[in-house]
Amino acid sequence: MDLLDSGQKFSPRQDQDWDAGLQFLPVSDTKRLEKKPGRRRALWIGAGLLLAAAGVALLSGLLVWHFHLRRDVRVQKLYIGVMGINNQPFLPDYEEPSSPKFTHLASLVSRQLKLIYSKNSVLAKHFKGSVVQAFSEGEDGGGVVAYYQSEFDVHVLQQGALDDAIQSLEPERSPPESPGPGGRMLLRPTDALDVSNVVSRAIDPRMTRTSLMVKKSFSLHVSTPGVLRSPGFPDSSYPPNVYLQWRLRADPGHRVRLDFHTLILEDDCQKDFIQIYDSLAPIQKRVLTEQCGYPHESLAFLSSGNVLLLVLVTSEEKNFPGFRANYSQISAAQQKCGGTLTGDRGSFSSPFFPSNYPPDISCVWTIEATKEKFVKVQFQKFFLGNDSSRCSRDYVDVNDQRLCGRKPKSSVVTSRSNMMTITFHSDSSYVDQGFTAEYETFVPTNPCPGRFQCSNNLCINQTLQCDGWNDCGDSSDEDNCQCEAAQMKCRNGRCKPKFWRCDGTDDCGDNTDEEDCGKCKAGEFSCRNRRCVPEALTCDGKDDCSDGSDESRCEKSLVLQLCSEFTFRCRTGRCISKLNPECDGEPDCEDGSDEDQCECGTRPYRSSRIVGGVSSRQGEWPWQVSLHVRGTGHVCGASLLSNRWLLTAAHCVQDNGPNSYSQADQWEVLLGLHVQSQTSEWTVRRRVKRIVAHAAYNTATYENDIAAMELDANVTLNQNIWPICLPAASHDFPAGREAWITGWGATREGGLAATILQKAEVRIINSTVCKSLMEDDVITDRMLCAGVLKGGVDACQGDSGGPLSVTGSSGRVFLAGVVSWGDGCARRNKPGIYTRITKFRRWIKETTGV
Ligand code: ARG
Repeated sequence: MDLLDSGQKFSPRQDQDWDAGLQFLPVSDTKRLEKKPGRRRALWIGAGLLLAAAGVALLSGLLVWHFHLRRDVRVQKLYIGVMGINNQPFLPDYEEPSSPKFTHLASLVSRQLKLIYSKNSVLAKHFKGSVVQAFSEGEDGGGVVAYYQSEFDVHVLQQGALDDAIQSLEPERSPPESPGPGGRMLLRPTDALDVSNVVSRAIDPRMTRTSLMVKKSFSLHVSTPGVLRSPGFPDSSYPPNVYLQWRLRADPGHRVRLDFHTLILEDDCQKDFIQIYDSLAPIQKRVLTEQCGYPHESLAFLSSGNVLLLVLVTSEEKNFPGFRANYSQISAAQQKCGGTLTGDRGSFSSPFFPSNYPPDISCVWTIEATKEKFVKVQFQKFFLGNDSSRCSRDYVDVNDQRLCGRKPKSSVVTSRSNMMTITFHSDSSYVDQGFTAEYETFVPTNPCPGRFQCSNNLCINQTLQCDGWNDCGDSSDEDNCQCEAAQMKCRNGRCKPKFWRCDGTDDCGDNTDEEDCGKCKAGEFSCRNRRCVPEALTCDGKDDCSDGSDESRCEKSLVLQLCSEFTFRCRTGRCISKLNPECDGEPDCEDGSDEDQCECGTRPYRSSRIVGGVSSRQGEWPWQVSLHVRGTGHVCGASLLSNRWLLTAAHCVQDNGPNSYSQADQWEVLLGLHVQSQTSEWTVRRRVKRIVAHAAYNTATYENDIAAMELDANVTLNQNIWPICLPAASHDFPAGREAWITGWGATREGGLAATILQKAEVRIINSTVCKSLMEDDVITDRMLCAGVLKGGVDACQGDSGGPLSVTGSSGRVFLAGVVSWGDGCARRNKPGIYTRITKFRRWIKETTGV
């Protein structure tokens, strides 16, 4: 029988003594005492009170002694274990706990365990019994693996001794061939089990919480792929106080693959979590991962053998949607890792990349170059768990140099001969995404023919040397440079393009490019109108700059005499001096109007196209909307402002030859969408009732590239559909501030649109810098530039209308811009151009009411 199903043994026993002790407290009847008047009475009362106090003191003392000092409390301890049985073949009946064959082998295992424990006095004394929970095929198809749980009853004070005794059963390193503790034991010859690898561990205390009300186990065969969900997913949140486990089995000779499509749990792993085990029982030594919250890393897992266990534990409060995962099986022979690599260049990666690599795997690659050449390997991605001491867990060994943990992209290793051996090893627990690597052979006398050699041995294009960008990764391409006319010299000797001066980013690395930017002297404040005023006059409530800018970036919110374009206007009409006070969580206006309508810009779960972006997670950008033209599909992006209004680009809704995009009935709106053409239970479709493009939109210049769309029916806001905050007209998005662009647009200039919503991080770029980068006078004050000037990251065709999202001080996300246009996509020194929302705050309010 399955202990979990029985439910009873799984929760620690309530000790009788404890319960009885709770009734000791006396109830003093003060009412009756009060009713007796008179002096003598009073004396009596005094004496009585004293006695009562003494009694209470005595009883409390007794209680303290009872609970804290006497400590004869016994506890039930559960250990979970695995045992290899070498001399029994696996029978199909072993999958069925109610079958006679299962029961028979289970009883042999129990007896065997009893024998093992009987050899140790501590274990023998406290042992209560064992229950076999499951069997699986032995490794390499031979024998059986038994998963069991053993129960011990022990004094609280002796728990440690018990743990030590259990630990001592396990040899330090048990080579699979040698029989583990016990070996062949005293059972009748026919019943004798040849056991090995007996491993037992205390159960994770979170799995034996007394509050767990429901314990259930499900068994699944993954030979036909299927979907696994937490209870209620996605319509309701998972139930509180449950322990649920799914035992997944593949056919012999196959691995189980479990791939999470969605996983949303409470943030605190002490409360709700999932764990995945390379086993059929939750034995800590075989845990592959533990997850809670809203994880963003790769969530595809593979077993080493043909079984995998998924556990979900939840607590009383805060229940979340849960998960949905696809399961399937993969032939173990299918992916043989390692091998011999020849040729001048090539690549290799850890097995199943970008899924997590399986546990207990070893791969060896040998790279052979022609005689006179050497080999170099660069790791593009390198995620091998946490750094451990001497890389003893999972590692990559390159020519006897061990690498582990997480490494930046520029890691290069070179050989000193024409051979290089790379070994990848994973141990039995905790897996990660793995690595991808590229190799190249080279002539040692000329390691980078026609290219520049970085100090870290990377070869880069010669034109990238001294261009101001750190292309090597170690900046060696930017050292010892002669600055050109268009460059400035940093104090540290580097050269940077002159137009990077004063853009809010420390490009030099020593901040030289950001010094003396205001052109005011030390101790002076540089006003937006370029005046200089003494620092001491800022934030004093008086307009000293005479454009109000000395009163616009204050910590405190003083009510000002005068308003300016840089100061926030409260509903009263008065202005305050605090920088970006709206929706920052603190009421700053006298009437609190700066915190009105702030149900926006939050993601439901804390975790938390685009060229150079990465896929986002479901619900990460709940204000992102996909605008479809009926019959065509995705055309533009948009942002959700309320349950009724969207904001997009005016150029998205212009008639274009036969396409009457300005007509509301041409459009279909998809909200809560994550993957194009894969609408989920969270996707909501709406028609458009009305489109209002800015009347002054200029098709030639993209000036005023903004339009509002009204939905034909309100949407219900939820975790995947949520509005973004609109910034006040005075909101400042300074140069250098990080911003995110999101969309399903092309992933490269002239390329194909993305299917999964992409996200990429860019920075706000100073307007003066931006104007100098683009052709004459194309950038107006109603546009905002953002991007990565190095190139490679940008919005592109199909992202238009979508948001440029900036997180404010309170964590709320504000709409800084609408994707509008660019010179190609992601070109070097060509930022993306966005409609500057602060300039349209009035227009949005008047058009949509939001
Ligand atoms: N106009 C494009 C569209 O319709 C968006 C261009 C954005 N380009 C850029 N390089 N940022 O989708």
